[in-house]
Amino acid sequence: MSNDVEGKVVVITGASSGLGEATARLLSSQSASVVLGARRVNRIQSLADELTGSGGKAIAVPTDVTHYDQVKRLVDTAVQAYGRIDVMINNAGLMPQSPLERLKIDDWNRMIDVNIKGVLYGIAAALPYMKQQKAGHIINVSSVAGHKVRPGGAVYAATKHAVLALSEGLRQEVKPYNIRTTVISPGAVATELPNSVTEPDIAENIRKIYEIAIPAESFARAVVFAISQPVDVDVNEIVFRPTRQEF
Ligand SMILES: NC(=O)c1ccc[n+]([C@@H]2O[C@H](COP(=O)([O-])OP(=O)(O)OC[C@H]3O[C@@H](n4cnc5c(N)ncnc54)[C@H](OP(=O)(O)O)[C@@H]3O)[C@@H](O)[C@H]2O)c1
Repeated sequence: MSNDVEGKVVVITGASSGLGEATARLLSSQSASVVLGARRVNRIQSLADELTGSGGKAIAVPTDVTHYDQVKRLVDTAVQAYGRIDVMINNAGLMPQSPLERLKIDDWNRMIDVNIKGVLYGIAAALPYMKQQKAGHIINVSSVAGHKVRPGGAVYAATKHAVLALSEGLRQEVKPYNIRTTVISPGAVATELPNSVTEPDIAENIRKIYEIAIPAESFARAVVFAISQPVDVDVNEIVFRPTRQEF
């Protein structure tokens, strides 16, 4: 693997909006080949068309990360099209926060299925190829809520703490295969994430917190920083927030 972005094959889950979309755009502008996964097919297809129209290489693959076979198909498509996978970005996620006493069990299950199992399925789909290549880079998306918990955010924080734990375990286990691992923990970044909140009063509070949110390109630049290090440099963890954010 070279120490820049050009020519790298990068698979991104949750590429239909927010952090994933911004990352696809920045990586494509630096001549990476991007393979885009999400459920909203129109969004990823029009993004792929736009990037291809600008001279880039991009493929859209309809993907629900709660189904392992679909995540495997996403990664397999990347390898079939471009011959390998250099970077897997497990980014898809949602944040329907609420106090535990409201018993929003469907929301808990969706967060566990997407934020934790989706990341595991991404690891499972990419790891066999990366082991064989003796090269690769897995980037998982946690949150400042992976480091801190506050009332109303217990389940979301639990899923993001799990992503930190998985990333650290993965980091230690993949040493023999020359695979790099990075977990990125953003604070408030302006995306569609607050739309995933199902409780109106919580949604209103979160909208207030997001008044200071920073653009999604902040995340994309962090990804580029991690990817573009020399091959013997493994950037394991990045935490960033809006300068004005307390939490
Ligand atoms: N924005 C922030 O402030 C912030 C802060 C910390 C961490 N994060 C994390 O950043 C990641 C990206 O979120 P975002 O802020 O960019 O929010 P977003 O704009 O709402 O994007 C979420 C992405 O996840 C995808 N997704 C959701 N469920 C999915 C599923 N079952 N299968 C496949 N894709 C699915 C969505 O695509 P489809 O709906 O088309 O499937 C969408 O592309 C999440 O893991 C989030 O927890 C965000």
